[in-house]
Amino acid sequence: MTNAMPREQLINRASEIKVIPTLGGVVDKVFTVLGNNNSSFNDLSDVVKYDQAISSKIISIANSAYYSRGIEIFNLQRAMLTIGFEEVRSIVSCLLLMEGMIKMLKLKEADLLALWKHSVEVAYAARILSEHLLVEDPQKVYTASLLHDIGKIVFYLAVPDYGEMLREIKNTADTVTVERERFGIDHQETGYIIAVKWKFPHDFARVIRRHHGDLGDNQQDGLLRLVNASDRFFTRTLNSHSKEAFILDKERNAIAFEVEKIMKFLQLG
Ligand SMILES: [Fe+2]
Ligand SMILES: [Fe+2]
Repeated sequence: MTNAMPREQLINRASEIKVIPTLGGVVDKVFTVLGNNNSSFNDLSDVVKYDQAISSKIISIANSAYYSRGIEIFNLQRAMLTIGFEEVRSIVSCLLLMEGMIKMLKLKEADLLALWKHSVEVAYAARILSEHLLVEDPQKVYTASLLHDIGKIVFYLAVPDYGEMLREIKNTADTVTVERERFGIDHQETGYIIAVKWKFPHDFARVIRRHHGDLGDNQQDGLLRLVNASDRFFTRTLNSHSKEAFILDKERNAIAFEVEKIMKFLQLG
C-alpha cells in the first residue's frame, strides 16, 4: 500500500513541475505533422487539442504577460494563433524533447492513458452539456475539462503506486478524500499550484481547484457545474434525475464512439 508522502513534498513537486507528460502515440502523431512541410495550422491543432500536456503549455504561454497583454485566453485555437504557428511548432518540439526525460521518471504508459482517456471523455461530455444548456462557450468548457485533473500528474510522478491506489478505491471511496487522508493534500490542490504557476486563466484554475466540491454556493458557476457534472457522470456519482444526467445518458454511445475514434486517430490503446 502507498507510503504516505508528506503534503510539503507534493507541494514542492507541483511547484517544480515544468512539463506534463504525454502519450507515445500522441508524440508520434505530432512528429509526423511537424515533419511534413505541407502541414497546416489546422493539422497541428487537430492533434494538439486532444492532449492535455501540450494544450496546458500552450494555454500557459498564451496567457503569459508577453502574449496576452492582460486579456485572458481560454480557447486553444486562439492561443495558438496568438503565439503564432512557428512558435507553436518550436514549443511542441521542445516539449517532445523533454518528453524523453519524463519517460525516464518511469511514469507508466497505462496510467497516463487512463488519465488521458478520462480527461477527453469529460471534455467531450462537458462540451455537449455546454451546447445543450447554452451555458458558457463550448470550446472554453472543452479545454477547461481537458485540464481539470492535471494535479493527478503530480501524484503519478511522486507516488509510485498511485495508479494502483486509484484502481483499488474505484467505486468504493472518493478519490480526494483518500488523497487527503493519505497525503494531506488532494489533486485539486496540486493542480491549482500548477495552474497558478503556469498562469492559466482564473476560470481554469478555479475548475481545477474546485471540480470535486459539492457546489453549494457555486451553483451559479456555469463552467464549474458542467465540469463537475461530466466528471460525476463517468464516476457514476451524478444524480440520475438531474438534467445533466438525462442529456449525457442519451449521448453516452456518441461520446464513447468519439473517444474511440480519437484513440484510433492518435494510434493509442
Ligand atoms: Fe479530479
Ligand atoms: Fe476527473
